[in-house]
Amino acid sequence: MDTLVSTTLGTSLAQTLRYVNAWKSKTVVVKYGGSLMSPEDASPAGDTLIEDLVLLKGIGVDPVLIHGGGPEITRMLDRLGKRSRFVNGLRVTDDETMDVVEMVLAGRANKALVSMIVAAGGSAVGVSGKDGKVLQARKLPGPEDLGHVGEIDAVDPTLIKLLSGNGYIPVVASIGIGADGRSFNLNADHAAGALAAALGASKFILLTDVPGVLAGGEGDEVLSTLQANDARRLIREGVIARGMIPKVEACLAALAAGVPTAHIIGGRTPHALLVELFTQEGVGTMMTP
Ligand SMILES: Nc1ncnc2c1ncn2[C@@H]1O[C@H](COP(=O)(O)OP(=O)(O)O)[C@@H](O)[C@H]1O
Ligand SMILES: [Mg+2]
Repeated sequence: MDTLVSTTLGTSLAQTLRYVNAWKSKTVVVKYGGSLMSPEDASPAGDTLIEDLVLLKGIGVDPVLIHGGGPEITRMLDRLGKRSRFVNGLRVTDDETMDVVEMVLAGRANKALVSMIVAAGGSAVGVSGKDGKVLQARKLPGPEDLGHVGEIDAVDPTLIKLLSGNGYIPVVASIGIGADGRSFNLNADHAAGALAAALGASKFILLTDVPGVLAGGEGDEVLSTLQANDARRLIREGVIARGMIPKVEACLAALAAGVPTAHIIGGRTPHALLVELFTQEGVGTMMTP
């Protein structure tokens, strides 16, 4: 190898290994968006995410995967001839709908991710937030009765730590459990933020179908950093809308609870997770308090 090439490569390898050492034994909570999980949209980047998780686990990092699955739930409800009604972006969840949500999220979607991790050479345990009372929830208060739509009451990270500490990548479906054992349909972004906080994660990463928080307007570029105050203003102005709102809120909640860094990044960019962890620049949007 050419001396110059070898020197450049060496410098970059040393830099990467410094990051690798810094991330050993650290918990990284990764939320995988339902928008990335649809079968007709299966991009190769989804596979690199799974590979990245397995690689991270292999070098001693503790990744925890938490996922939603809204589009898949809608498809299943359609097949069953059941229409969903949404109030402020929340799916009104009657008993029958809750059954379907639980079957899709804790069943097919969760086990598909476990299969992908196993196929990539890792070992995963898929659970729902009900197992081990990880995601404790209560009915979302409000003027309208949304059925099983819940909000996080408390998080018990014991089961997740147990799995992480024994070589498994935990895969968590965002379903909560009430004090009486009732199932709750939780927003996966909010659940992920609360889980990151309870685990004392060193990083919280939301992967979605856009490359980060977009600034709107002419260029519509990705904001590489976004401060809490600016985020709140952009929500008021309608620049940050729909599915991006709970992501920003989840990041702010995690940061307020002491998680040092929170990011919204594009899950369609191959190896986005590794780039975020092991480079100075990172990718997507970094939220700051
Ligand atoms: N300012 C913004 N920047 C980026 N995405 C935005 C913004 N405002 C609204 N969105 C929408 O948020 C979506 C991501 O949320 P969502 O569809 O719920 O994905 P996920 O399945 O990952 O939770 C984007 O695809 C985009 O349509
Ligand atoms: Mg969403």
